[in-house]
Amino acid sequence: MAAWIIFVIGLLSVWQVGCKREEKYDDYSLIKLYPTNSKQVDAIRRLDEPEHKLKFLKRSRSYNDSTDILVPPSEINYVQDFIKTENLEYEVKPNYGRYLESAERVPKRRILRGFSIFEYHSFQAIQEYLENVAKRHPDLVTLQNLGTSYQGRRMKLVKISSDPNANNPIIFIDAGIHAREWVAPAMALYLVHRLVNDPEARQELDGVDWYILPVVNPDGYEYTRTSRSNRLWRKTRSKNNLGCFGVDGNRNYGFKWAVSGVSSNPCDTETYAGPKPFSEVETVMVRNVMMENRNRLKLYVSLHSYGQYLVYPWGYTGDFLPKEWKKLDSLARTVSDAVQRAGGKPFKVLSAGKWYPAAGGSDDFAYGVIGVPYSYTMELTDGYEFLYPERLLRVVLPQFFEGFRAFGAQIKKEFSPELNDHRYRITEMDIS
Ligand code: ARG
Ligand code: ZN
Repeated sequence: MAAWIIFVIGLLSVWQVGCKREEKYDDYSLIKLYPTNSKQVDAIRRLDEPEHKLKFLKRSRSYNDSTDILVPPSEINYVQDFIKTENLEYEVKPNYGRYLESAERVPKRRILRGFSIFEYHSFQAIQEYLENVAKRHPDLVTLQNLGTSYQGRRMKLVKISSDPNANNPIIFIDAGIHAREWVAPAMALYLVHRLVNDPEARQELDGVDWYILPVVNPDGYEYTRTSRSNRLWRKTRSKNNLGCFGVDGNRNYGFKWAVSGVSSNPCDTETYAGPKPFSEVETVMVRNVMMENRNRLKLYVSLHSYGQYLVYPWGYTGDFLPKEWKKLDSLARTVSDAVQRAGGKPFKVLSAGKWYPAAGGSDDFAYGVIGVPYSYTMELTDGYEFLYPERLLRVVLPQFFEGFRAFGAQIKKEFSPELNDHRYRITEMDIS
């Protein structure tokens, strides 16, 4: 009998370890491939077949830009052979998940200290911070309830406006649709912080309203924060009929839904597009914000990480560009220059689909359905993959802010009613 119990317990723990390992990528290797010619770029694309069970964390735009993949032990030989055949430059970090375990999870001591804008925070701490900002600046900041996430977390849109009745153009920024991309919500909060507290930055306000949704996928975000779960989770946490969890929110928007770059397997951990467009309450909320403000919405930016890209529609195809692509491209370059002038790395600027086609993204929806004239996905930071170190936030967030200053300036120049009135007056004078 005793032997039996031991045997059963033994089996259970083997089973548990097996499951956990699989999910946490403990024994996966991170392999970074550095293609040096277009033949190698094409070859790498062929690696992306479901039977290889490789997790693509980042894709190369072209050469001199790494493709980063997580490789399970069972596929290591296959990938190594591939590297040899294609004669690729590469780098390997073995046991990537084990290394994640020692990576930062927010320590408890934080509770005793105040809220620092240069740290990663729990969803609850973020909400409390926003409530406080709104309380302290009622003339400037309002919070709009959007509803609750799949697991019941209350989502609030931060509206920053010095004159809500002025009919100003709106800049809408969201972050955190992908759970593991922690630097994106951190940037969104930093934006709130600067727009509210920095008098010079407040000048940016006159003539433009900023709407910010810092954590689109709070359930996933919290899932990446608890030690029992998975730091590299990407999707939402809705349960589907196969007993698997989550939809890739950025494949779930209703424009050219699922025509490219998606998985139709609900158990796929990366790019499952969902059972139908807008199957996720979280993407519906973002859609509603866009619809409610469609006439005034002039710029939409979705914050992601990583790779230092600033990409614009179309995302669903790389075969052609929108008619107005030059405007999208040139504003992106202005923003990239501003970040570089502030000491940051420049962005790689191109259409999302030319980087790699993937349909159902929020950027395409904003541009193609809502008609927002400027729409972007911004991939923050380069290096460290999804684990951007907290200690570097105070360096990069202010650099990125200069990019948003440039965004704001352009929107103000092009769409602010005040400035347009002014222009009108000048024409009148010209006539007389
Ligand atoms: N890394 C982002 C993603 O895979 C890029 C999205 C770009 N936009 C697009 N519509 N494909 O979701
Ligand atoms: Zn992302």
